[in-house]
Amino acid sequence: MNEFKKVVFSGVQPTGNLHLGNYLGAIRKFVALQEGNDCIYCVVDMHALTAQLVHEDMPNQIRSIAAAFIASGIDPEKHIVFNQSAVPQHAELAWIFNCVARIGWMNRMTQFKDKAGKDREQASLGLYAYPSLMAADILVYRGTHVPVGDDQKQHLELARDIAMKFNLDYAEHIRKTDYGIDITVGNEPVHAYFPMVEPLIDGPAPRVMSLRDGTKKMSKSDPSDLSRINLMDDEEAISKKIRKAKTDPDGLPSEVDGLKGRPEADNLVGIYAALADRSKADVLAEFGGQQFSVFKPALVDLAVNVLSPITAEMRRLMSDTSHIDATLRNGSERARARAEVTMKQVRDIVGFLY
Ligand code: TYM
Repeated sequence: MNEFKKVVFSGVQPTGNLHLGNYLGAIRKFVALQEGNDCIYCVVDMHALTAQLVHEDMPNQIRSIAAAFIASGIDPEKHIVFNQSAVPQHAELAWIFNCVARIGWMNRMTQFKDKAGKDREQASLGLYAYPSLMAADILVYRGTHVPVGDDQKQHLELARDIAMKFNLDYAEHIRKTDYGIDITVGNEPVHAYFPMVEPLIDGPAPRVMSLRDGTKKMSKSDPSDLSRINLMDDEEAISKKIRKAKTDPDGLPSEVDGLKGRPEADNLVGIYAALADRSKADVLAEFGGQQFSVFKPALVDLAVNVLSPITAEMRRLMSDTSHIDATLRNGSERARARAEVTMKQVRDIVGFLY
């Protein structure tokens, strides 16, 4: 347990269409966390440059993520919704973290290995340093809790390593100020400037899998559009994709244990549970013993009921971008003010004259 003030932070990249994995693994959790928490939700446009330097229609991609946040139920007045590049303090802290993080740590990042592919020499330095910017995103607000899908777990462990090393490297200087807090990490007492971030990954769908192959993650880069449900899909597309989703010939088990070794069944039950805010056990108590010919139409109805209003509201928000733009400007201004409080202290701790 740390005693830092609880601050929830998360980010989504403006790269291509959002899909059900992004919604269930991240955005739906962002919405639920609003109650009683201080939340900051960011469109991480600087991260998107690591995928493609010339990004097609970047402004509208940024707007559409903000629209998805708001259409899903995030309140940008009570909380903060903004785009990363409008708050330069993220990049400033990322540089300091580049000097704290070790190359060996970066070399272990599985997402870098996957994204860089075989020709690693040709990958950008930005892609390599990506997790360091991600740590800065969170820690520039001294964020404590980060709702994400399972694929971001390793990056968040790295954020903890960076925070810990900064706290230890600068311990003497942190002590000279009144910016630090005494926390316990494991059983060790540490006088910390940055908190140890807690990933919030749990839930029935921390890793939504492809509808075509239950062993592969649902992803925007899958060449088959049938593999994913996009947030902008209409009722017909949702229905077709679920009807065509790969399954095995057996009926549904009545207990969660019976999903072992059945990745497609497990995935569809997890999706149902997450969309209905129920547990997998609860869903199986209802559908155990039923065939997919019964379960799939129920899943189509549920998915359409949950997603259609979001899609409609996203379309409405995107039809007049002035509202989204004003929301992002307002969010960025508030984010900048908070990030600057941290950066003033960080500059002082590392010894910069400012
Ligand atoms: P990104 O933009 O790839 O994905 C956004 C969120 O969606 C989750 N997600 C999934 N969850 C479950 N099943 C899936 N198939 C699935 N696919 C994607 C991701 O885990 C993520 O939560 N590095 C981050 C963005 C980022 C960030 C941050 C996140 C940048 N700075 C700071 C948290 C805190 C990313 O690429 O997410």
